[in-house]
Amino acid sequence: MSATPELAGTPVLILKEGATRERGRGAQHANIMAAQIVAEAVKSALGPKGMDKMLVDSFGDVTITSDGRTVLDEMDIQHPAAKMMVEVAKTQDDEVGDGTTTAVIIAGELLGKAEDLIEKNVHPTVIIDGYRRAADKALETLEKIAIAVKPEDKVFLKKVAMTSMASKLVAENREYLAGIASSAILHVAQKVGGQYKVDLDDIMVEKKAGESLTDTKLIEGIVLDKEVVHPGMPKRIENAKVALLDRALEVEKTEFDAKLNIESPEQMEAFLQQEENMLKSMVEKIAEKDANVLICQKGIDDMVQHFLARKGILAVRRAKKSDMEKLAKATGGKVVTNLEDFAKEDLGSADLVEERKIGDDKMTFVEGCKNPQSVAILIRGGTERIVDEAERSIHDALCVVRDVVQEPKIVAGGGAPEMEVARVLKEYADTLPGREALAVQQYAEAFEAVPTTLSENAGLDPIDIISELRARHEKGEIWAGVDVHKGKVDDMKKMEVLEPVAVKNQIIMSATEAASMILKIDDIIAAGKMKAPPMPPKGPGGPYGGMPPY
Ligand SMILES: Nc1ncnc2c1ncn2[C@@H]1O[C@H](COP(=O)(O)OP(=O)(O)OP(=O)(O)O)[C@@H](O)[C@H]1O
Ligand SMILES: [Mg+2]
Repeated sequence: MSATPELAGTPVLILKEGATRERGRGAQHANIMAAQIVAEAVKSALGPKGMDKMLVDSFGDVTITSDGRTVLDEMDIQHPAAKMMVEVAKTQDDEVGDGTTTAVIIAGELLGKAEDLIEKNVHPTVIIDGYRRAADKALETLEKIAIAVKPEDKVFLKKVAMTSMASKLVAENREYLAGIASSAILHVAQKVGGQYKVDLDDIMVEKKAGESLTDTKLIEGIVLDKEVVHPGMPKRIENAKVALLDRALEVEKTEFDAKLNIESPEQMEAFLQQEENMLKSMVEKIAEKDANVLICQKGIDDMVQHFLARKGILAVRRAKKSDMEKLAKATGGKVVTNLEDFAKEDLGSADLVEERKIGDDKMTFVEGCKNPQSVAILIRGGTERIVDEAERSIHDALCVVRDVVQEPKIVAGGGAPEMEVARVLKEYADTLPGREALAVQQYAEAFEAVPTTLSENAGLDPIDIISELRARHEKGEIWAGVDVHKGKVDDMKKMEVLEPVAVKNQIIMSATEAASMILKIDDIIAAGKMKAPPMPPKGPGGPYGGMPPY
C-alpha cells in the first residue's frame, strides 16, 4: 500500500518519510503469523516432559529456563503483534504466577484457527464475538467442574505446588520445595472477612549458590545478604533491639567545594577531634536508646564502626530499601532518617540476630521477630543457574499456593480441564446459529492444543491420545488427561496432578483478549526508524579516549 494516495493527480503526503503501511488481509496475516511464531517458540517447553531453553543475552550471560515468561522476556522481541503475546505471558505471570506457556500457546492457537475462518470469509468481528461467547462458556464450565478445598489444607497446597514444579529443572526435589512453599504461604496468610489474603512481599527470597537444593531452608524471620561490618562486633545477639536507619553514618560532604586553611598542628588536631566527636555523638544517640543491633541502609564510616564495636553493637550496612521495609514490618521497628528524632519506641525487636557463613559468604539472619508473619526462603543449589531457575520455580509454586489459599478451588491438570472445556464448547456450538457456531467450534479445538502439546512433548502420538481423550470425556470422565510419564490417558485427579482454578481462568481471559485484540487490527502504520545518534569515538580508557568530554 502506498502512503501517498493521489487526489486528482496531486499526491497528498499524510505520513512522514520512511513510514510504512499495510492494510486489510495482509496486515491480519502478518500479525497472526508473528503471534503464532511466538507461540511456536514456547511450545516445546510445556509440561513435565517439556524441554528447557538456553538464552544468551547480548552480554553473553546465560539463562536456562522453561518458564514461559522468562523465555519471552529474554528473547527481546521486536514485532508489535509478537510483543502482544509477550504481554499475555506478563499478565498471566503478574495475575496468577503460573500458566504463562499455556496462555501463549492457546492465544497462538486461537489466532491460527481464526485465520482458517477468515479464509472462509468469516468476518473478524464475528470471530471475536464467537470467541467472547466461548470464553464465557469456558469460564462457566471451569466453575462447574472445580473442586472446592480447604484453604488451610496443606496436603492439597503441597500437591498444587508440586504440579507447578513438575515441569521445571527442580522437579526432582519438588516434594521438598513444595513443602517449603506451602509452609511459607500459610505463615503469611491473613484472614480478612472470612477470606485469606496473601501478600507475597511478606516472603523474602534469597539465593546463594552452593550445597544442594535440599539445603534450601525456610527461615522464620529475615535474611540479609550482608555481613557484620566490623570484626570487633559481636556476631550473635539474643533479645535484639534493632535500630533501623536510612541515613549514612558519616560526616556529610558539602555540596560545594570549600577551602579550609589550617596553619598549625593544633588546628589540625582540633579539626580531627571535632570530626571524631561528631561521629561519636551519632553512636551515642543509638547506644543510649539501648539498641544492640543497627541495620543501616547507607554507609557506615570506619570510625563509627569502631565506636559501635566498642559499644557491643552488631551493625550491618547498605541493606536494600525493600529489606528495610520488611525489617520494619517484621521487627515492629521504624526506619529513622534523622538521628535527632530517634526514640526508644522506634526500635524493633527480634529473639536472635546472627551472622552465619553460607557457602563462601556471610549472611545476617534476623529470627524470632515480633511479627511472625515474615518469613524468608534461602535457596541453595549446585550452581548459579540452578539457584536462578529454582528461584523462578519457587516463585511459581508460591504463586499457585497463594492462588488456592485466596480462591480455594482446584482442577486436575494434564490437559483434562482443557479437554472438558472443548467438549462442552462443541456441544454449545451446536446450539448456535451459523458463523458464530464455527467460531465457538474453533475455540474448542484451540483448547485441545494443551493435551496435544503435552503428548507431543512426551513423544506420544497426539492423534491417538486426543481421540481416546475425546471418547473418555464423552463418557463423563471429566478428569481424563495425559499421563506423560506412563504415556497413556489416565485420571489426573487420582494422579493428584492438581492446579488452581484461578490459573486456568486467567489463561482463558488473557488468551482470548490477546487474540481478539490482534484480530481487530486491519491496518498497521509504522513510523520510519529513527537514526541512532552518532557514537563518540572510542579510544583507550573509554569513549572519550581517557579525556573528559570537554
Ligand atoms: N504429572 C503430570 N502429568 C501430566 N501433565 C502435567 C503433569 N504435571 C504438570 N502437568 C501439566 O503441565 C502443564 C504446565 O506446564 P508448564 O508448567 O511447563 O507450563 P505453564 O504452567 O503453562 O507455564 P509456566 O510454568 O512456564 O508459567 C499443565 O497443563 C499441567 O497440568
Ligand atoms: Mg507451570
